[in-house]
Amino acid sequence: MALKENFILGIESSCDETAAAVVGDGRRILSSVVASQVAIHRKYGGVVPELASREHLRQIVPVVREALDQAHLTLRDLDAIAVTQGPGLVGALLVGMTYGKVIALALGKPLIAVNHLEGHVHAVFLEAHAAGLDPALPAVCLIVSGGHTVLYHVKRDGPNGAARFSYARIGGTRDDAAGEAYDKVARMLALGYPGGPVIDALAPYGNPSAVRFTESKLKGNQFDFSFSGIKTAVLYHLQRNPQLHSEVDARTKLLARGERGAEALRAVSSTATLDLIASFQRSVVNNLVSRTFAAAEQHASQTVLVSGGVAANSELRRTFEADAGRRDMKVYFPSRALSTDNAAMIAAAGYPRFLAGDHEDSTLNAEPNLPLA
Ligand code: KG4
Ligand code: ZN
Repeated sequence: MALKENFILGIESSCDETAAAVVGDGRRILSSVVASQVAIHRKYGGVVPELASREHLRQIVPVVREALDQAHLTLRDLDAIAVTQGPGLVGALLVGMTYGKVIALALGKPLIAVNHLEGHVHAVFLEAHAAGLDPALPAVCLIVSGGHTVLYHVKRDGPNGAARFSYARIGGTRDDAAGEAYDKVARMLALGYPGGPVIDALAPYGNPSAVRFTESKLKGNQFDFSFSGIKTAVLYHLQRNPQLHSEVDARTKLLARGERGAEALRAVSSTATLDLIASFQRSVVNNLVSRTFAAAEQHASQTVLVSGGVAANSELRRTFEADAGRRDMKVYFPSRALSTDNAAMIAAAGYPRFLAGDHEDSTLNAEPNLPLA
């Protein structure tokens, strides 16, 4: 007789997405609902913590209800509740975590604490499993988002087939996360918020070799990243080229009218600006790809996992895939929808902890700086 599938409700509220999802046995996504707050934070050009908490409070109940409805389940059908414990904004984390706690206590179901970064790792496995693939471990994993740019060595921790992993940190950014650099450069160029998707869409129209960005030389760990230098270089480039300023004003007006589409923005962007965008993206992508493969080679790993919001980037995916082919390595990404923050990855990461009886009680607290390793 087939064993009953275990249903885990995942709840994610670490940053600016309120998300809930139901995942069966850590693999089958029954629902994944994400309420984005982008429209609220857009006018500030970044996430405002107080506004994020308030919006999570408004969204958490309907988002969880919607995730259950789409899964055709009720709270009683759940086997456990998995919540993001950290890292993230403390006020934002507390909303999802407290709601998850209340559901678990009221129903007498296990409560599981999940590290948001481990969620991003599991997003890759969710996608691979859906495609019938099983990435070989150990692997090197790059998590690259608006809040993180970090490399981990990922090993299996337990019998083959168990999705329980252990992590060692290889390197990470010393200053800005890569997604943060995308967002800041997009802000300087008046391309809207978040910057990643627009820069992704516009970069193919520019010449990526037009503007040279010198890579910042870092002392110490060769697997660390730095993205504040390129951000400043874009700023200096703009200051040296005052002829680009009138189009920045034109795009600012477009955005103020709510016209945020890449096509509309491209119509008021000169070749020189498109070249700058393409060169910025090429530099960031090459930096991420080369360090990740260097880390994989040093750790004798044939598998590379890439996750987080910036993993949705087309050029990053293309470059990783082309290079992996040449190096005889395998690279895995989540689907684009699972690259950015979501709760399916939290439910999936909670599953091995559920199986191991790794349960929390009502004293569980949010950990804004929770490390993965
Ligand atoms: O993982 P995520 O949703 O939230 C964080 O944990 O930060 O990532 C959001 C970040 C933003 O900085 C956004 O600009 C970037 O991911 N992003 C992209 C793309 N889509 C989102 N960056 C580059 N290319 C994209 N297509
Ligand atoms: Zn994230």
